This record gives sequence, structure tokens and C-alpha cells, in this order.
Amino acid sequence: MQAQEYKVLSNTQVSDRYWLMVVDASNMTQTVQPGQFFHIKTYDGIYPLLRRPLSVYKIDAEHGQIEFLYLVKGLGTNKMTELQAGETIDLFGPLGKGFDVNAGYDSILLLARGVGVATLSALAYEAAASGKQVTAILSARSRNDLLAADYLRGIGVDVYKVTEEDGNSDVDQVEELIHDILSQTPVDALYTCGSKRLSRLMQKIAKQENLPGEIALEEHMGCGMGVCYACVCEIQTGDEVKNARVCVDGPVFPLEQVVIK
Ligand SMILES: Cc1cc2nc3c(=O)[nH]c(=O)nc-3n(C[C@H](O)[C@H](O)[C@H](O)COP(=O)(O)OP(=O)(O)OC[C@H]3O[C@@H](n4cnc5c(N)ncnc54)[C@H](O)[C@@H]3O)c2cc1C
Ligand code: FES
Repeated sequence: MQAQEYKVLSNTQVSDRYWLMVVDASNMTQTVQPGQFFHIKTYDGIYPLLRRPLSVYKIDAEHGQIEFLYLVKGLGTNKMTELQAGETIDLFGPLGKGFDVNAGYDSILLLARGVGVATLSALAYEAAASGKQVTAILSARSRNDLLAADYLRGIGVDVYKVTEEDGNSDVDQVEELIHDILSQTPVDALYTCGSKRLSRLMQKIAKQENLPGEIALEEHMGCGMGVCYACVCEIQTGDEVKNARVCVDGPVFPLEQVVIK
């Protein structure tokens, strides 16, 4: 796979801390799966040297577009905000293993914290479009950061919002909320991204309820193609713990297998 330049169709600030970039992917030869990511050269100059990994937030196959919802965090994402419509961006991807969307579940529950919603939204869209019942709990610092909520509602997802601002986002409160949802809605599988504490909670609930699930991990990356081992995580099957590279073996893994430290 080679990195390629794609035209930026728009790049706009959508809340205090988040930006949305829409890219013309009509000449992209690979199909993009929810949960996959692109390794992005955020600036034409020397720094930042390393690419930045971003999941694909929306996959609009009909119009040949993909979208990235990104939190402006440091140098790389700040540089991304400077890109204007009509300019090009250097994308390497799609990379990694995405969600198993066709696993045959009728009803799924997503738990996203912060920017984890960017990763889970493409899954929500694909699942809702194929007639599955999708319930999503979105957790964030503030209401202002819950930007995907309206979009997800618009595509038929049942959305629950929890924030520090509203004082309802503690792990115990989210656990109670999940049990409430499970008592009212049959759920076949759990998906999570964006928080270690909430991922541990999802592992606990998956075990209690005997539900399968998947988790998308965010690790610091170097090459994005399996060579540098900057992105290693631990995967446990039975008593055996093995290293896995998030960029090629993931970023999506079976929920119960990831060792969350
Ligand atoms: C598979 C994957 C998918 C991601 N998807 C999204 C997304 O859809 N939207 C989004 O806003 N963010 C996403 N992230 C996190 C995003 O990569 C970082 O926020 C971004 O790299 C920060 O770069 P920076 O230069 O602005 O920040 P800096 O803090 O200056 O970055 C310094 C270094 O740390 C790395 N880094 C910093 N924070 C993270 C992080 N949370 N995860 C991984 N590396 C990090 C950077 O890549 C860079 O190499 C994803 C991360 C991974 C691994
Ligand atoms: S980022 Fe280099 S091996 Fe994963």
C-alpha cells in the first residue's frame, strides 16, 4: 500500500476542541471498513515528522467521501486545522483490522468516551444501515464535546449522553445505566473505544452477561505498518499472554482478550 494525496473538501471546527475534515476518496482503490484508520501526514514540512493515526468517522461510499472527526491535541492535529478546502492531504491507508460488522448480531451496544466516538460512529452507521438496533452511550467531559450525538440519532441510534458536566459519567453510574439498558433492550454484542476505565467496565459486563464484544485501541504509533513495534499491546487467550501490534493486528480486538493496564 502507498500513501496518496487526496483532496480536502472541507475542514471545519465543529466545537471548542473538535474539527471535521471531509476528504474526496473517489479515487481510493481500497474499501474502508469501520474501525480502520489512516496514518496521516498532517503537514507538508518537516515537523511533525511522524504521521498521526485517525480512524475514519464516516464512510460515504455513495459520494466517494470519507470524514475524520479529530480532537485538536498537539502539533499534528493543530497543523491539520490549517488545511483548506481544495488543498490535498497525504493519507496512508486504510490500515488495520476493523470491526466485524457482519457478525450476525441484531442489536449492539456501543460505549464511547471522548474521541472514541469518532471510531465507533462508522460502525454505528454501518450497523444501523443494515437494520441492526444500535444503542450508544456517549461519554465526554462536557456537553459541548458530545458532537456526534445528533448525527447518531439522525441515523436511528438510541443515544444516551453522560458527561462530567452533568455529573453522570462516573464508572459506577455508567455501569448502572448499562444494566438498565440491558434490562430493557436485548443486546447481542458490546463495542467500546476511548477509555481504559470504561473498557474494563465493558469487559466486566461482557463476562457477567456472557456477551461477545470488540474494542478499538488507541496506542501511540510510529510506522503504522507493523515494523517498529511502537504500538504493542497485550492480548490474553487462556493463560497465554502475547504481544500484538495495534496497527496491524488491531486496532480492533476481541474485547475479552485485551489486557487493559
Ligand atoms: C488507531 C487510532 C485511531 C485514532 N482515531 C482518532 C480519531 O478518529 N480522532 C481523534 O481525534 N484522535 C484519534 N486518535 C488519536 C490521535 O491519533 C491523536 O490524538 C493524535 O495523534 C495526536 O497528535 P498531535 O500531534 O496533535 O498530539 P501530540 O500530543 O503532540 O502527539 C505527540 C505524539 O503522540 C501521539 N499521540 C498523542 N495522543 C495520542 C493518542 N490518544 N493515541 C495515539 N497516539 C497519540 C501522536 O500520534 C504523536 O506521535 C486515534 C489513535 C489511534 C491509535
Ligand atoms: S506503529 Fe510501527 S509496528 Fe505499529
